Amino acid sequence: GKSGYDHYMLKEIHEQPRALRQCLQGRVDEFGGEVILDELSDLDPEAVQFVACGTSYHAALYGAQLFRSIGIPAQAFIASEYATSVPPIENDLVIGVTQSGETADTLSALREARHRGAKTLAVTNVVGSTAARECDEALYIRAGPEIGVAATKTFASQLITLSLLTLHLNGSEDDREVIAGLRDLPSNVQAILDDTNAREIAEEYHDSDAYFFIGRGLHHPVALEGALKFKEISYEHAEGFPAGELKHGPLALVTENTPVFAVVTGDGEQARKTIGNVKEVEARDAPVIAVTDGVSDVERYADHVLEIPESTPRTAALLANVQLQLVSYHAAALLGRPIDKPRNLAKSVTVE
Ligand code: M6R
Repeated sequence: GKSGYDHYMLKEIHEQPRALRQCLQGRVDEFGGEVILDELSDLDPEAVQFVACGTSYHAALYGAQLFRSIGIPAQAFIASEYATSVPPIENDLVIGVTQSGETADTLSALREARHRGAKTLAVTNVVGSTAARECDEALYIRAGPEIGVAATKTFASQLITLSLLTLHLNGSEDDREVIAGLRDLPSNVQAILDDTNAREIAEEYHDSDAYFFIGRGLHHPVALEGALKFKEISYEHAEGFPAGELKHGPLALVTENTPVFAVVTGDGEQARKTIGNVKEVEARDAPVIAVTDGVSDVERYADHVLEIPESTPRTAALLANVQLQLVSYHAAALLGRPIDKPRNLAKSVTVE
């Protein structure tokens, strides 16, 4: 059942600390500063291609950035587009990210990759799923069952699993700090759940013309995911953009009636540039909601703040996403939408 929550989605958002603990369990040797993934054989890819759909594609975009950060060329493809122009494959690992393991578009991209000689890996939640059976290797995200059509805890667990995968393959000195960030993640998610103002933000803005989400680097997939979640359960128009793209077109849509959610953490180059983009929308009188750890001065340009604990960049992305899940949930609840079963959508999409 829903354990006292009004919807499975809210229950599953609240299950994230536990899901993440399960995912990390026994895989991290903190003393040695190492990640051990017993279920994998020796992988040594020269390059990685990801194939995935929807929310899982956003996780793939995040995973591809992590691989590139350890010097392994990596690209994320929307599974249904992969076969229209298959990239060259040479000692590449093709990773299908699919929580159900049954998504037709993803299965067919994986089959195509295999057919062309790639080694394939399924990153999935379901033991014995088609993706897990058909791929050479399977890595489980261990999120537990997810009933709501909107993917929430499975997305968080996908991000962490991909993080573990790159740590497992890389094994460098800098890993200790990253591993400490992962260890703190479940309690940091809990801190957000205990103290969020997402509902107030939803109350103030659930009657807007459209909703925009912006972020750079690892926060780009978070912006895309924030918008996907928002549109699928609230039925309101929402779009996510890489922060730098705003001025190349979408800025024309920004008005005082289009709240902009900007994900900004740390105070490095990326934060500084995104703050520049925030100033551009602020100058058009759009309400700005900054999702931030408070390290930069983005709050000066924002109407509201959704706060997250300070952490490493890769975990900050996941934390910011939790705040955005909550905003979507509360907006949809205020609008009276059937949150767990949005119209026209299915939990597992088994047609191409
Ligand atoms: O089971 P999968 O991860 O392969 O599903 C892919 C998408 O259909 C899925 O992520 C979808 O976008 C989400 N349910 C949206 O919340």
